[in-house]
Amino acid sequence: MDEVFGLFPIPFMRAPAALPPALVKGLVEHFTARATRDNNSSGNLAHTKMLKPGDSPLLGDAAALIAPKLVEFGTHLLGERLKWALKEMWVNVLDSGGRQAMHNHANSFTSGVVYLTPTHPSSQTVFMKSPGGTDFLFKNDHAGMKPGAFNADKWISPAPAPGDMILFPSYLMHAVPPNQGERRITLSFNALPTQLDSWGYVVKLS
Ligand SMILES: [Fe+2]
Repeated sequence: MDEVFGLFPIPFMRAPAALPPALVKGLVEHFTARATRDNNSSGNLAHTKMLKPGDSPLLGDAAALIAPKLVEFGTHLLGERLKWALKEMWVNVLDSGGRQAMHNHANSFTSGVVYLTPTHPSSQTVFMKSPGGTDFLFKNDHAGMKPGAFNADKWISPAPAPGDMILFPSYLMHAVPPNQGERRITLSFNALPTQLDSWGYVVKLS
């Protein structure tokens, strides 16, 4: 029997109900009013300042629930149960019509999103391959082709429920298309392993 292998796949973790409803409610109530910073990709997107788990008991509770998932995700990303430091956390408030441009997260290894409200299907987070550099490009992209795991440019993450979390490598490009639904609130964060060891050549990261 013929076989086709997916070589070197990218890990993407979905953790349903990672945060319990009471904590999700607390985060929404506390941080929505504190999302006062404009985002340059949309007038209908605002976020809080960069926060640390120690800045609020709510964030501390969230960080304690996120931490074991980071360790588990790290076994896929880096092959070892490493210590992880949850660095910046912030809350995004995306009103109807708002969007987030394609971006990734520099100086971080794992990034994550916890969905705090229902998410309209139009604004499910989209992940995409890195745009090309300065080389010319050949593509086979038309109505008659069927995109699949090996040739698609983008992937729409599964419909999330409040409390669900996703974890992904920080280099992965992602975006939020225009929100055609109600206000969508998320908690985002970046995390680093405390150290990496390549055959004795060690870098300390946090
Ligand atoms: Fe992001």
